[in-house]
Formats: sequence, C-alpha cells, structure tokens
Amino acid sequence: MNNSTKSQTDSFARDVLEGLSASPKKLSSKYFYDDEGSRLFVEIMKLPEYYLSRSELEIFRDRAAEIYAAFGEFDEPFDLLELGAGDGSKTSLLVAHFLEEGSDFRYIPVDISSEALNYLESKFDDEFPGLEISSIKGDYFQTLETLSARSKRRKIVLFLGSNVGNFSDEQAVKFFRDLRGTLNEGDLLFIGFDLHKNPQTILNAYNDAQGITSRFNLNLLRRINRELGANFNLDEFLHYASYHPIEKTARSFLISQREQTVDIEALNKSFEFGQWEPIFMEISQKYDLETIQSMASSSGYEIVGNFFDSHGFYVDSLWKPTPA
Ligand SMILES: C[S@@+](CC[C@H](N)C(=O)[O-])C[C@H]1O[C@@H](n2cnc3c(N)ncnc32)[C@H](O)[C@@H]1O
Repeated sequence: MNNSTKSQTDSFARDVLEGLSASPKKLSSKYFYDDEGSRLFVEIMKLPEYYLSRSELEIFRDRAAEIYAAFGEFDEPFDLLELGAGDGSKTSLLVAHFLEEGSDFRYIPVDISSEALNYLESKFDDEFPGLEISSIKGDYFQTLETLSARSKRRKIVLFLGSNVGNFSDEQAVKFFRDLRGTLNEGDLLFIGFDLHKNPQTILNAYNDAQGITSRFNLNLLRRINRELGANFNLDEFLHYASYHPIEKTARSFLISQREQTVDIEALNKSFEFGQWEPIFMEISQKYDLETIQSMASSSGYEIVGNFFDSHGFYVDSLWKPTPA
C-alpha cells in the first residue's frame, strides 16, 4: 500500500469509527463513490425519477452559449476548476462549447474518488484530445487551501449536480466563504441548486422503483466490508428515504432490520445495532431563490445570472465575489 492509499484508508477508517460511534449512527456520503458506487451513480443519473441530472443537462445543452457569454471576456488563458466532478458528463457540454469558441483553458477536476477521476480523464482524453487536464485527487475542503497558490490565472469554479445539497445551509455558507477567500476579482463560481417542488417528485428521486438508489447506499457497507474488513450483512439493512417539505431536506438512511453485531477488523471494534435502528447516510437539501440569494450575500458574492431548466426544477447560479 503506498502512502497516499494508506492515508485515504486511515481517514476512511477514522470517519467510519466516528460515524458508527455517534448517536444516531451516521456514515459520510463522500465515501459513496468507489468503483461500484461511481458506476451505480451513472445508472442513477439515467433513472426516470432522477430529474436532477436531466435538468442540469438540459440547461447546459440549451443555454451553453448564454452561459459562455455570462462568463465574460476570455482574452487570457483561464482555469476551469470543477469541485466534485464525478463523471463530468454534463460538464463535457460546456467544455465542448468553450472549445468551439476557441477559448484557451485548462480543466482541473477535483474529486475524492480516484475511480471517478480515472473514468473522467479517459473520457475527456478521448472526447477532447489536446485539452489540458490537471486532476486533483482529494477532499475539496482541503484542496481549497491550495487553490490560489496553484495558479495565477483567472478561475471559473464549477460546483454542479447539487453537490451543495449534501451540506447544511450553515456548512454551505462557510464553504462558499472559504472559497471566496481563494478567489480574485474576475473569478466566478457556478453552482447547481436543486429547487423545491412537488415533495413527491423529490422523494421519488431518492426512492426509485428499480432500487438502484438502495443498491447505491448499501454499496457503502460493502466498501466498509472490503476495505476495513467488516462483516455487514447487506440483506439485513434496508434503504429508507424521506423528504421534509418545511425544512426542504431529503434524507436517506440504512435501517437495521434486526438486532445484530457488526465487527470491523481494521477498527478492532464491534458495533451493536438495534432492530430498526437507522444509519443516517446523506442529506440532499432543496432551495428557494430567496435562500440562494441570502447564501450568496452572506458568503461574499453577488449573483450575476440564474439559468433554469424548462420545468423550473433546477437552477445553475453564477456568482461573482463582491470586493472585500
Ligand atoms: C453527486 S456526484 C456529482 C458529480 C457531478 N458533479 C455531477 O454533477 O454529475 C458527487 C461527486 O462529488 C465527489 N465528492 C463528494 N464529496 C466530496 C468531497 N468532500 N471532496 C471531493 N469530492 C467529493 C464524489 O466522489 C462524486 O464524484
């Protein structure tokens, strides 16, 4: 095991220990994306219920030229940075348009999952020969600190796929404020927000009829079994999703169907689960425009433009840092 793989396993083990020792038990959604998790997420994006990716794809497909114009002048080479890039399938529409316009930029995807980054790099290498790609593998919270030191070019930062929804509003404002500290005048931040809508439409997106979301969540237990030597029996846990229309928060859980003990070798520890005890897996926050506006102003940005899909389900919001 090389040093970097070892330190990844150490942080995974640390987070699993902390999460399963907490009450209620929880696991971090940032570990969903191993090989199988990344593959399952590609399947989720194609599900009829998962309107999020389709909405953002529609915005990029139909409005790439407007988005490009809103990004402003491109006299100098710039960096297109993407936080939590995943498979980059939607971003590729923007990249294709930028290249058609003859702009000179470097694409810098940041992701904690090496599987996602490997897949993305090989896809972009095929699709866009000649595009300079400079991937950063790591947690985007930690990467933020090094971003401004990496390059003096103008930066456009993408934070798509409603990744922001995995944060509470307070965490999101802190994240945007920290990011603000790394940006210069002329830099931009482009963020995908899932808007509130019929609660049933939202709930269905996290509870699909084919059970792919359930497999996606259970896969994290499989990953703990494989990487940390645990003995989770996946058949003994079920996926449960909820949506709270006042908080505008979707939550997903894995529920222990019976009383059981799970041993995790790498932690040298056993964990007791009561019957129907939940493990809290993920929040997916939904937004209204007032909240987006107030998040932007309280974290030091001005909204330059909002790009909606035709159903008004989703918005990609373009922010510029307000002068310090
Ligand atoms: C829901 S997927 C979205 C991918 C892509 N942005 C899209 O719109 O399709 C989330 C991606 O963010 C990555 N990710 C989640 N938490 C992260 C973190 N703290 N640091 C870096 N990457 C993270 C995951 O590995 C995954 O590839």
